[in-house]
Amino acid sequence: MSKVRIGGEAVRKFIIENIGAHPRDIVRVTAEKFGCSRQAVHKHVQRLIAEGAVTDGGQTRNKTYQLAPLVKWSKNFELAAGLAEDAVWRSDIVERLEKLPENVLHIWHYGFTEMFNNVIDHSGARIVSVFLTKTAAATTIDILDDGVGIFKKIKSALDLADERHAVLELAKGKFTTDPRNHSGEGIFFTSRMFDEFVIASGDVFFSHQFEETEDWILQLSANSGGTLVKMVLHNHTARTTKKVFDKFTSDDDYGFTKTVVPVELMRYGDDNLVSRSQAKRLLARLDRFKTVVLDFSGVASVGQAFADEVFRVFRSRNPNVEVVPIHASLEVKRMITRAESLGAEGELGDT
Ligand SMILES: Nc1ncnc2c1ncn2[C@@H]1O[C@H](COP(=O)(O)OP(=O)(O)OP(=O)(O)O)[C@@H](O)[C@H]1O
Ligand SMILES: [Mg+2]
Repeated sequence: MSKVRIGGEAVRKFIIENIGAHPRDIVRVTAEKFGCSRQAVHKHVQRLIAEGAVTDGGQTRNKTYQLAPLVKWSKNFELAAGLAEDAVWRSDIVERLEKLPENVLHIWHYGFTEMFNNVIDHSGARIVSVFLTKTAAATTIDILDDGVGIFKKIKSALDLADERHAVLELAKGKFTTDPRNHSGEGIFFTSRMFDEFVIASGDVFFSHQFEETEDWILQLSANSGGTLVKMVLHNHTARTTKKVFDKFTSDDDYGFTKTVVPVELMRYGDDNLVSRSQAKRLLARLDRFKTVVLDFSGVASVGQAFADEVFRVFRSRNPNVEVVPIHASLEVKRMITRAESLGAEGELGDT
């Protein structure tokens, strides 16, 4: 018993962090983790309930536990002239986030103002709604606008065949429909700063570290013609905005010079990556970077012409762009090596 009491703080921290994944069996999971009795864990759960961090529901046998919202707030803003993301951040958001570590607050400042600015500058919406929920473990902000819809907008700007191809363009970064006033960095960096980042519009999802969303969000997105951005961040994380920026910038000029492209996103609408035209779609705009990391996770194989276009033709046309494949399967590696071995003068049949 005394052992449990000494580790009480750790036990409650574990409960808070794992209750979302184990609403029904958090007591058993915690007891196993700490090698203590269920009764001992129960005391900690009761204490968290008394403190208002946790709520319970259901009957004795089917009891479920969840984190209580410490903050639950929402507001609609009219997109009138003069609405500015930084003013909204200061007047409505920052105080409602309450005490958070400085690095976490910085991530929220960046993410909220970037995504709110997107609504102001790109959505053509009349109303934007902000939902903020904070529990003992994490904070969520949803920004929902009733504008044109992000994927629809990108599809028509780039004349894409499919709205889902817009997801790939966003994942590459440096995509903007307004190059005079913007540089296409907001979604790229914001999506990589949060534990969960989702954009939903129409029936298309862009998600980074997608986890189960709450029901009411799915309902909203299903009914809305505009754009929903959801950001979730643990209240305690070692991540900082600087660490995320540093991953994609070069040391000398701090420019946005490196991207990591999830090649798997190409498969929306295309099952197999075989043709030169698919490779060209993957490579579009990537000559703007100094380093292009192609992440082949989830891609079992690629065809000859596809590999040749990426690893020989593109490289010989863009000698200043470093193309680095990662997480390639043996099969994909074989095709890459083959394309590379043909060198700059090599010839391969088209498909
Ligand atoms: N809420 C939205 N509604 C409609 N389109 C959007 C919305 N948010 C973003 N977009 C589209 O997605 C593109 C990319 O957004 P992102 O924030 O990454 O870059 P940007 O706003 O163009 O540039 P920066 O963020 O660097 O100022 C925008 O140019 C715009 O076309
Ligand atoms: Mg932006």
